[in-house]
Amino acid sequence: MSRLVVISNRVAVPKARGAAGAQGGLAGALNSALKKHKGVWFGWSGEANEERAGTINMQRHDGVTTATIDLTPQEVDDYYNGYANSTLWPLFHYRLDLTRYERETAKGYEAVNERFAESVTPLIEEDDLVWVHDYHLLPLGERLRSRGLKNRIGFFLHTPWPPTRLFVSLPSHERLVKTMLEYDVVGFQTQEWLESFLHYCQKELGAEVDEATGKVTYDGRECTARAYPIGIDWDHFQAQGDTGEARQACQRLLSSTRHRTAMIGVDRLDYSKGLPERIDGIGRFFDQNPERVRDLVYIQIAPPSREDVDSYQKIRGELEQKTGQINGARSEVDLVPIRYVNRGYSHAELFGFFRASKIGMVSPLRDGMNLVAKEYLAAQDPEDPGVLILSRFAGAAAQLPEALLVNPHSPDDLSYMIGKALDMPKAERLRRYEASVATVRDDNVQAWTERFTADLAG
Ligand code: F6P
Repeated sequence: MSRLVVISNRVAVPKARGAAGAQGGLAGALNSALKKHKGVWFGWSGEANEERAGTINMQRHDGVTTATIDLTPQEVDDYYNGYANSTLWPLFHYRLDLTRYERETAKGYEAVNERFAESVTPLIEEDDLVWVHDYHLLPLGERLRSRGLKNRIGFFLHTPWPPTRLFVSLPSHERLVKTMLEYDVVGFQTQEWLESFLHYCQKELGAEVDEATGKVTYDGRECTARAYPIGIDWDHFQAQGDTGEARQACQRLLSSTRHRTAMIGVDRLDYSKGLPERIDGIGRFFDQNPERVRDLVYIQIAPPSREDVDSYQKIRGELEQKTGQINGARSEVDLVPIRYVNRGYSHAELFGFFRASKIGMVSPLRDGMNLVAKEYLAAQDPEDPGVLILSRFAGAAAQLPEALLVNPHSPDDLSYMIGKALDMPKAERLRRYEASVATVRDDNVQAWTERFTADLAG
């Protein structure tokens, strides 16, 4: 088996793994793949440091070698806060209103990709498979090729890929996609994002596209683009559910909610997650059913994210204001309708909270996949499962059509689905859960890694 070199913006040290569910699924997913392939995981340390920028820090932990570099404060601003999270992230989540186009940050993004290529090249051996992740590193494959790398190099995008008409608003759209065609395999979360990418290649670049196989031929090179829906680490998550920590978390929530049904949402504090819209839906539910304030308690776990980016500061303020308004209007001395928690929890605790909550609320306005939806289902009691309310705009909706699919922009639809979930008879809960849980268990992160790396190995 070839060694695997994974390259991503962030590299999770194993001790941080517990919080991966709240941070996004990437960390847990890659750890499993690397253990199996005895590979190296390269990326940014998360530190801004003028003097040490570019120096490689190697560590070996639990069978995985990590290699990280610091970036300068200017690089962090231009590449991470700037082009990656103020240009590509909003654009890829269909938020043209939040997308900033700045030539300087675009240059910083290219420069950091070049720095990554320069630092990682000496770590790559001749037969290694190289697997690059996410929107931070779209041009990295081309940068590696320009250094003479002949290895098989693949790329996986964890976010959505936008429709061509939105994507062409990016000044460097053509250059970015041309660099992506230097990869041997390009993976997307869903068929929908894949089709948008192929549409762009055909219509804007004039590439030859075989839709049946995903083969894109351009400028004498061939690249295969396919959908590889990511999954959770089922076994690891179930093992977390068997711990005392998970049982205690479950009990803690049950005893604090008593005769009320707990509905839970766990999201990074990001505008793509539809949090203010969700609170509006909950407000609408209480407006339409004021007596049910005694039936439902909503728990929102929202660890802060990308706090140096303006749009993230705004979303936090908006969420706090909306939550405060509902709680102010509807609380009693012994009852608060919305609990809002601004921190992350371990996987074991999340398992317990999910198990204790009879409704899981996952309503992003747009999401590449959303692993919280899958984790919620994985944590349910198979004899008496809860109900998942899921945005039809999350990639996970394509795999989980038996969830209660909701339009996250519509307070009325959200309100209707909350009522439906609260009143759903056990037989229907069981039927919906059983129709969904098999794909969560079987299409897991190990299966995802194997499919991608098998295609990459050719
Ligand atoms: O899922 C998208 C993603 O950017 C992942 O790559 C990342 O692990 C997660 O969101 C958290 O974001 P950040 O690394 O910016 O904190």
